[in-house]
Amino acid sequence: MPGSDIGTAARWLQQGEVVAIPTETVYGLAASMYSRSGIEKIFKVKNRPLSNPLIVHIASIDQLAGLVQDIPEIACQLAVACWPGPLTMVLPKTNQVDPLITAGQSAVAVRVPAHPVTLSLLQDLGFPLVAPSANKYNYISPVTAVAVEEMLGEEIPYILDGGPCTVGIESTIVAFDGNDSVRILRRGGITEEQIAKVTGRPVTQFSEGILHPGKSQKHYSPSTPLFILREWTDLSVIPDELSSVALMMFSDRFEQAPVSRKVKLSVSGDLSEACSRMYNTLYELDKEGHDLILAETFPDEGLGRSLNERLYKAATHR
Ligand code: TXA
Ligand code: MG
Repeated sequence: MPGSDIGTAARWLQQGEVVAIPTETVYGLAASMYSRSGIEKIFKVKNRPLSNPLIVHIASIDQLAGLVQDIPEIACQLAVACWPGPLTMVLPKTNQVDPLITAGQSAVAVRVPAHPVTLSLLQDLGFPLVAPSANKYNYISPVTAVAVEEMLGEEIPYILDGGPCTVGIESTIVAFDGNDSVRILRRGGITEEQIAKVTGRPVTQFSEGILHPGKSQKHYSPSTPLFILREWTDLSVIPDELSSVALMMFSDRFEQAPVSRKVKLSVSGDLSEACSRMYNTLYELDKEGHDLILAETFPDEGLGRSLNERLYKAATHR
C-alpha cells in the first residue's frame, strides 16, 4: 500500500520486512542490510536468482567505513563529487557485509541515493538498506509509486511514495583498478564524461567474464516485443499483419512513420528529460497492449549512451 509516512516505512524495515522506497533513479525494494529474512524476501518477491548481488544504500559517505576497505583515492573523489547521486561504486567488502548481499563475491556495491525522503529514512534508521529496483526480475524498473503498486503491491507491506523519480534510469555502476582507471559495469544516471572529468583518469568498459548486470541476455524489458530503430530502413522489419504498432521517439527522424501511436520523449531534444520519461513511457505502452513497440536510438553521447544500453538490453530485435 502506498503512503508517504517515513515512520511507517522505518517500522516495517526494523521488523525485517521489505518496503519500496523512492530514489532519484528508480524505485527500490529495500530491506535492512542486517536482516537475512528481509534480504531473502527481496529475492523471492522479485523472482531474482541469488547469484545477482544487491546494492547497499547508505545515508552518507561516513557510513562507508565499516562496509568497505582499501578505498582508492579516485573512489573518494567520485564519492565527494557525485554523492548523493546516481553513482554506485563496487569496492572490496569487510566481513560486516553478508555474502548473501554480494552473491558470494568479495566486493560490495554501494551508493548514497539523492532523494530527500529516502535520505531521511536512512538517517532515522541508522543502518544501510539493500535495494534492487522494485520490479520483477528482468521487467522494466518502476519510476512511480503507482507502477510499484501495480507490479508488487500484493506482495509487500508498504510503498513509500516520494513522487516520480527525477533521473528515471538506474545508477551508473563503476569498479576500480587501483587508482589507474575507472571501469563502467553499467551505464546510468552519471555519464562517462562526468566521471572522466572528476577523476582525470581513463574510463573503460566492463570486460566479459566479470559479473555485471548485462550478463543475462534480456533486461529492463516490456512484455510487448521491442524493436530498435536506427534509421528509416529499419522500419522494414515491421511485419505487415500487425494492427497496432507504437513508436517511442527522441528526434524528428521518424515523425512520418506509419504507426498507430507515437510518443516523443522530449520536444526540446533534451536527453535528461528523455531519460526521466523513458521507463514510464515503455511501461505505459506495454500496458496499452500493442503488437509491437519501436524505439528510436539516442545520440551516442552522455545520457544517450546509457539510454541506448537500456534499449539494447530490452530489445527483442536489435
Ligand atoms: O539506481 C539504482 O542503482 C537502483 C536504485 C534502487 O538504487 N538499483 C538498482 O539495483 O538498479 P538492481 O539490483 O536492479 O541493479 C543493480 C545491479 C545488479 O544487476 C547487480 O548485478 C549489480 O548491480 N551489482 C550489485 N552488486 C554488485 C557487485 N558487488 N559487483 C558487481 N555488480 C554488482
Ligand atoms: Mg534492476
